[in-house]
Amino acid sequence: MKFRGGGLGANGIRLSMESALTARDRVGVQDFVLLENFTSEAAFIENLRKRFKENLIYTYIGSVLVSVNPYKELEIYTKQNMERYRGVSFYEVSPHLYAIADNSYRSLRTERRDQCILISGESGAGKTEATKKILQYYAVTCPASQQVETVKDRLLQSNPVLEAFGNAKTLRNDNSSRFGKYMDVQFDYRGAPVGGHILNYLLEKSRVVHQNHGERNFHIFYQLLEGGEEDLLRRLGLEKNPQQYHYLVKGHCARVSSINDKNEWKIMRRALSVIGFNDTEVEDLLSIVASVLHLGNVQFAADEQGNAQVTTENQIKYLARLLAVDGSVLRDALIHKKIIAKGEELVSPLNLEQAAYARDALAKAVYGRTFSWLVSKVNKSLAYKEEKFPGWRSTTVLGLLDIYGFEVFQHNSFEQFCINYCNEKLQQLFIELTLKSEQEEYESEGIAWEPVQYFNNKIICDLVEEKFKGIISILDEECLRPGDATDTTFLEKLEETVKNHPHFLTHKLADQKTRKSLGREEFRLSHYAGDVTYSVAGFLDKNNDLLFRNLKETMCNSENPIINQCFDRTELTDKKRPETAATQFKNSLSKLMEILMSKEPSYIRCMKPNDAKQAERFDEVLIRHQVKYLGLMENLRVRRAGFAYRRKYEVFLQRTKIFIRFPKTLFATEDALEVRKQSLATKMQATWRGFYRRKKFLTMKRSAITIQSWWRGTLGRRKAAKRKWAVETIRRFIKGFIYRNHPRCPENEYFLDYIRFSFLMNLKRNLPKNVLDKSWPTPPPSLCEASQLLRRLCMQNMVWTYCKRISPEWKQQLEQKVIASEIFKGKKDNYPQSVPRLFINTRLGREEINAKVLQALENEALKYAVPVVKYDRKGYKARARQLLLTHSSAIVVEESKIKQRIDYCNLTGISVSSLSDNLFVLHVHCEDNKQKGDVVLQSDHVIETLTKTAILANKINNVNINQGSIKFTVGQGKEGIIDFISGSELLIAKAKNGHLTVVAPRLNSR
Ligand SMILES: Nc1ncnc2c1ncn2[C@@H]1O[C@H](COP(=O)(O)OP(=O)(O)OP(=O)(O)O)[C@@H](O)[C@H]1O
Ligand SMILES: [Mg+2]
Repeated sequence: MKFRGGGLGANGIRLSMESALTARDRVGVQDFVLLENFTSEAAFIENLRKRFKENLIYTYIGSVLVSVNPYKELEIYTKQNMERYRGVSFYEVSPHLYAIADNSYRSLRTERRDQCILISGESGAGKTEATKKILQYYAVTCPASQQVETVKDRLLQSNPVLEAFGNAKTLRNDNSSRFGKYMDVQFDYRGAPVGGHILNYLLEKSRVVHQNHGERNFHIFYQLLEGGEEDLLRRLGLEKNPQQYHYLVKGHCARVSSINDKNEWKIMRRALSVIGFNDTEVEDLLSIVASVLHLGNVQFAADEQGNAQVTTENQIKYLARLLAVDGSVLRDALIHKKIIAKGEELVSPLNLEQAAYARDALAKAVYGRTFSWLVSKVNKSLAYKEEKFPGWRSTTVLGLLDIYGFEVFQHNSFEQFCINYCNEKLQQLFIELTLKSEQEEYESEGIAWEPVQYFNNKIICDLVEEKFKGIISILDEECLRPGDATDTTFLEKLEETVKNHPHFLTHKLADQKTRKSLGREEFRLSHYAGDVTYSVAGFLDKNNDLLFRNLKETMCNSENPIINQCFDRTELTDKKRPETAATQFKNSLSKLMEILMSKEPSYIRCMKPNDAKQAERFDEVLIRHQVKYLGLMENLRVRRAGFAYRRKYEVFLQRTKIFIRFPKTLFATEDALEVRKQSLATKMQATWRGFYRRKKFLTMKRSAITIQSWWRGTLGRRKAAKRKWAVETIRRFIKGFIYRNHPRCPENEYFLDYIRFSFLMNLKRNLPKNVLDKSWPTPPPSLCEASQLLRRLCMQNMVWTYCKRISPEWKQQLEQKVIASEIFKGKKDNYPQSVPRLFINTRLGREEINAKVLQALENEALKYAVPVVKYDRKGYKARARQLLLTHSSAIVVEESKIKQRIDYCNLTGISVSSLSDNLFVLHVHCEDNKQKGDVVLQSDHVIETLTKTAILANKINNVNINQGSIKFTVGQGKEGIIDFISGSELLIAKAKNGHLTVVAPRLNSR
């Protein structure tokens, strides 16, 4: 929505503001909107002329800047001037492209909307200069930091490099851009330039191999020859003289006084370094440039069959080195053609013409692709890396479009066709965004409106680009169809398909009068900017843009890193036919239109005052022509009828809340803004801080939710997996339980393993603690045998461990106990009482034995001594004695006397009763007269005493345990008898029958 109205009543302010403009600034009108006779083209041109004479080259039509090339250096691009325009309202100062630049920049910052500045005009009108000046303006006026300085430098220095490789001297312009350029400059939230990106469009490659009279090849060739150090030229195999190179002399003007190649070379070399080229990369790049020159000098001669042969071996040698390819392969590839038909390779020789064509195609391809590589290299160096706020676009973009202007030559070819088509598209965009949309908006809002007539060039755009019926479609069809398609058949097809189009004409279709001005190989398009006659010669070739397969292959094998990147191997295997040049161009233009449509545009319309590149010359005819085709009059009429200053309602309302129709209103507005600036700044700051914090908060909230949900998901998945596992395990368990008594099978495997495991684990925890512990877990049926084996092992182990721990003394004790058990266990009543009592080494210490006895036994070690009671053989009188055991004999001692010595060899046996008494008889060999007969003794430790005696005397098997009575020898063949009976208490006495009667007490255990 727009408002009409006026901001009057601020005359004082206006005057003071306008006084900032010098009187000179106010020559004519500085905005055509203020032109009284605004419908008159003559008045329009007169205003331009008046201002041009005063070196006022800029004039507005509303917010569109019209610029006339002064062809001389003006003092209006100084730093002070830049400062003058910085942050200042559009109408406060005289028209300037700095004002446009600043205005776009401010919109970008305040509204955070991407901007673009479209610079149009014909060749030589000053588009590239304007672009550079705008970039310089941003470099000086935008906030800076160390990093930003580098970016600024690179943005500025990308120009000399791209110009060296992409610009050339033409008849129209000594520095004509032979490629289209769209450059995005990225600004961060502080408004500092932080990165950039360049899109390039259709380089005029044909210039590499051919230049029209008065024109040159791309600057870089001349710069290299003129400025390159001798060493470098030697390495590249080049001579300083451009006349030596076929590709440089076609236009007969290799050296031009207005161009200082040597100086430009220095600038370009420095720029390469700033962009980030190292020495090797520079060398690789220049090798390619040199290789193109050498290629141009490759000559052919025909052999007898008419096949081309290379006659310039030297060039091949240089080429092989510079392109890092095999020389002989390259030579072959230049004079042969390889086709793959039905999977088979067919190689055929080329004739002279074809070989020259192949050579030129290679030169064009190498140069063209290197140029694209260069752009991508520049882009890498300009790329903005930092992304501080993910999810939030931290940069805004300002695009600068400097694309070839409308071109009309004497001979116009495919390139002019593309360039002019591009200009049609840009005009269409201009119409869409300004004339058409503006008028439609007024109408839709019901504002009284008288439509302004303008020529809508959509009809021409359609003629070129429409599917099936458009010129590009027809050209593609001719290029792709089998059979002998030629430029002429293409022209015929065109005549057939678009013959009735009002903007299309050929010799055949023209009337008598116009026919004269048209050749038979030409067609004429009535562009919005005027008629252009195109010669169809070369259209098919240029559109096909073919490079013979074997040349492609050779390049793919190059070891020059740049060439290697430019020629991708996949091209060789890719079956799909590459898009034609025109279609590629059409598609890239349509993408460009999308890019531009998404941005807020500003326009700079450039004009050239004369064709002679001269200062002070204002050629009215030429200017009129440009005013016409740039649509400036229509533009003015719409602006006049509408409003000088347009903003989206919301933005407008937010920023100013004042309606503006006349520039003076704007002064008042800006003044009012000045008054409120402080409070507005605070408000903006607060809003920004709020926005920034909220943005941060929202990001954090989003992150938290993301993390939360992710973590929940993870937990859920883990739980589900656990449950699944549990179900699976239980199922297997149950199945196993059912099959538990079956032999091992897949069904019960798990169960049995589990049972085994748990049994073993249980066993491990509950193993018997010692040999006496008889506990043992009950095994499952399947493990009975194993359990038994384990139990035995366990027992063995315990026994073994126990045994290992036994001391020698204890061992001896146990051995003696074992023997005692063998002898007495279950046979003698008082044996059980003896079991818990330890056997003692001796019951009598040496001090208790008489010294004499000990002396008598000097040589014999005393093994055991015990006090005993001896019963006389006849009267059975009891006498206290000591029984001593040595190695060889048992000795009965009374005080100091050895009463009887019984050598073990004479000891025939030992008798005891089965009762609980302590009596025993040592039976002695009777024939030994020395012996007094058997000895009846009583020991309180009878079991111990007898065991020790039996062991020492080795008579374990000779201990008799008798029931009832014991017979013994008294001497000389007489016998004594001891009767044993059980009674209540021990009694030993001689009975009437002369026997010794022993009453042994009954023990409880029996
Ligand atoms: N503002 C200016 N001040 C001084 N000289 C200028 C200015 N603009 C252009 N020129 C002169 O005009 C020449 C051509 O300008 P420029 O290269 O910008 O044209 P162009 O519109 O880019 O042409 P093309 O379409 O051929 O690339 C410049 O080399 C320069 O000498
Ligand atoms: Mg240019």
